Amino acid sequence: MPATVIVGAQWGDEGKGKIVDLLAQHSDVVCRYQGGPNAGHTIVVGDETYKIRALPSGVVRGKPCVIGNGCVVDPEVLIAELDEFERRGHPSCEVYLSGNAHLIMPWHLAIDQASERRLGKLAIGTTRRGIGPCYADKAMRLGIRVQDVLDAKILRQKIEVALAEKNLWLERVYETEPFDLETVAAKYEGYAQRLRPLVADTSLYVDRALRDGKDVLFEGAQATLLDLDHGTYPFVTSSNPVAASAATGVGIGPQRIDRVVGVAKAYVTRVGEGPFPSEIEGDEQARMRELGAEYGTVTGRERRCGWLDLVALRYAVRVNGIDHLALTKLDVLSHFAELPVCIRYRTPDGVEMGDFPAHQSDFHAARPVYEVLEGWNEPLDGCSSVAELPAAARGYVEFVERELDVEVMLVGTGAERSSVLTRA
Ligand code: IMP
Repeated sequence: MPATVIVGAQWGDEGKGKIVDLLAQHSDVVCRYQGGPNAGHTIVVGDETYKIRALPSGVVRGKPCVIGNGCVVDPEVLIAELDEFERRGHPSCEVYLSGNAHLIMPWHLAIDQASERRLGKLAIGTTRRGIGPCYADKAMRLGIRVQDVLDAKILRQKIEVALAEKNLWLERVYETEPFDLETVAAKYEGYAQRLRPLVADTSLYVDRALRDGKDVLFEGAQATLLDLDHGTYPFVTSSNPVAASAATGVGIGPQRIDRVVGVAKAYVTRVGEGPFPSEIEGDEQARMRELGAEYGTVTGRERRCGWLDLVALRYAVRVNGIDHLALTKLDVLSHFAELPVCIRYRTPDGVEMGDFPAHQSDFHAARPVYEVLEGWNEPLDGCSSVAELPAAARGYVEFVERELDVEVMLVGTGAERSSVLTRA
């Protein structure tokens, strides 16, 4: 398929990187369309583990990579990642960086941290990478864009203008240290020299690739329920991970997208604060966390774990227009004798609903209604296709398909690149 969007269908960390890595084999270009180094994609190839934050996961396959205008870029992280790839023997990393993407500046990190500290118990639980403040400045038209690195004078001027305001905030509102103009300007001029050769008209590049009949993957970061508009606001990120955003975040028309693949874990995890109806109670949650190694790639934080939530997944199918699902980490469930799956929510007055609540208070109050499926209690290591899964594991996958009316095209059964099963 020429243009495929890969989108997280839950609260992130679904294993999108691994699915992108798999599909990238047959693609010509891989693009990121939103988010920044709050993302953390882990790809295991033999003895090597790649943890990627800024680059699209397709970089591991040596594919040309696009960082679209919808992204926010921390130059320090991006440059470190490029250096690391070179060190590990990928010298010809072909990266096209949109001039319209916004740069994460040191004050964005400082404000993200200070604002979370200030919120105290009401904190969002951000990754503290400056994502929200950077997108806020973009909307305020105070941001510094990648294309500003092309001219040293403009870059310095923009830093000066921004700092005049940011230092006031830092000192007076957040009671923290201001930044020195000369220090920041010198540091960013150093980054600018590394970024200049990467700056490109990425909209034109992707348009041409599609016109030439090339296969392009659009890799979402974060996920549907962290979407600024469609997620569980305010416990969301500051960009739009949903599939439609691939068009605006790269600069192509929406009709160019041919297929949307949603990635969901066979259970659910969430990092940060916010309601989570199917969160597992008691010791079983810690067991699931250990079995699934559910600790954040970027922050190392413990992820909260829950049973598969089909109400939320049905919503993700709707708001993204998901055509196919990839169900990851099914092997983690091999250790449980019984597998509750949330099929509806119950409101405090006893009403049951299969559709995701439109109002935040209803979502906060929602309790899960479970259907308990039988476990399979055996490892999935030896299976090389979905058809070879134990009957109960196949039953689990088919239950998801029936409930959502969407085909599960891929099933993840382990960390390795080869542990993704197809239907055949
Ligand atoms: P921010 O994106 O750093 O502003 O964080 C906002 C919310 O999104 C927090 O709840 C984070 O934990 C969550 N978040 C951001 N990026 C990811 C991710 O890649 N995986 C899971 N959660 C994320």
